[in-house]
Amino acid sequence: MRPTQAAFPATRLRRLRASESLRRLAQENVLTTNDLIWPIFIRDGEGVQEPIASMPGVFRLSIDLAVKAAEQAAGLGIPAICLFPYTDPSVKTEACAEAWNPDNLTNRCIRAIKAAVPEIAIMTDIALDPYNANGHDGLVRDGIILNDETVEALVRMALVQADCGADILGPSDMMDGRIGAIRAALEGAGHKDVAILSYAAKYASAFYGPFRDAVGASGALKGDKKTYQMNPGNSDEAMRLIERDLREGADMVMVKPGMPYLDICRRAKDTFGAPTYAYQVSGEYAMIRGAAERGWIKGEAAMMESLLAFKRAGCDGILTYFAPEAARLLRG
Ligand code: PBG
Repeated sequence: MRPTQAAFPATRLRRLRASESLRRLAQENVLTTNDLIWPIFIRDGEGVQEPIASMPGVFRLSIDLAVKAAEQAAGLGIPAICLFPYTDPSVKTEACAEAWNPDNLTNRCIRAIKAAVPEIAIMTDIALDPYNANGHDGLVRDGIILNDETVEALVRMALVQADCGADILGPSDMMDGRIGAIRAALEGAGHKDVAILSYAAKYASAFYGPFRDAVGASGALKGDKKTYQMNPGNSDEAMRLIERDLREGADMVMVKPGMPYLDICRRAKDTFGAPTYAYQVSGEYAMIRGAAERGWIKGEAAMMESLLAFKRAGCDGILTYFAPEAARLLRG
């Protein structure tokens, strides 16, 4: 006797999972190499490749090796790299003047990569923390992070980076009004095609620890960044920040960290439809890498799953320390 209709599951969703070919056919989102931005740590010297203890597999590179890394990234089809300087404590001051020195580490590196690998897009970080004696992203007076004075400093920093050939500026400081001020200054200086990827929804997160080791800011930082970075409990505020930054002239917006904030990525994409990026930050990298090294999870599979999740959440791209490894796997 044939079972009645009611005895069957109403819909057999397993049908399209039954074979690799049907699974491929029914896949909604894909990760491609075009989605990757690779953050690179740079330092002074020559031929230097210095390990970072809390980020196994990630190194601080001297400029000559950063150029090699950029060549390697371009060869893998990665569209952009992002530079973060490890600055010598001796150049850190309360005034942060090294930030807009045309010959600082970052600016020399931008010029070197532009000359050798013109096809790769260079993103930079705009914030004062690598140059600040107290480790903060803004200028500090009497323990207060100064907003408007910091914005003036960030504008100087942005103009010099644009002069050196940066393609995408990444203000990561969370001061109010910096996107509008930087955009106006770029227009005024004839840098009409320099893009701004605003770290619009950047949370005061415990997941930045290994990064602060990598750039040498851990020891310097006095207190925390909660007066400018966001409260992890907030979501509506992220929408207000993104709306504001797009209105002020940001071309792209970022949510940071990534994995714990995929709800913010989805909401941002649905609300604004703007180019939306997530930063899979140093602590997220360290968790996956650390667990994989201990054999607790399968590293490659966890890495690829975590990156695909960003696409599913609506992101157009991901800043990730896994970029070259993921690109190699995607190439097959
Ligand atoms: C600072 C900056 C931080 C990161 C990028 N830019 C750290 C911070 O805000 O303290 C974190 C990136 C990471 O953890 O991978 N302007």
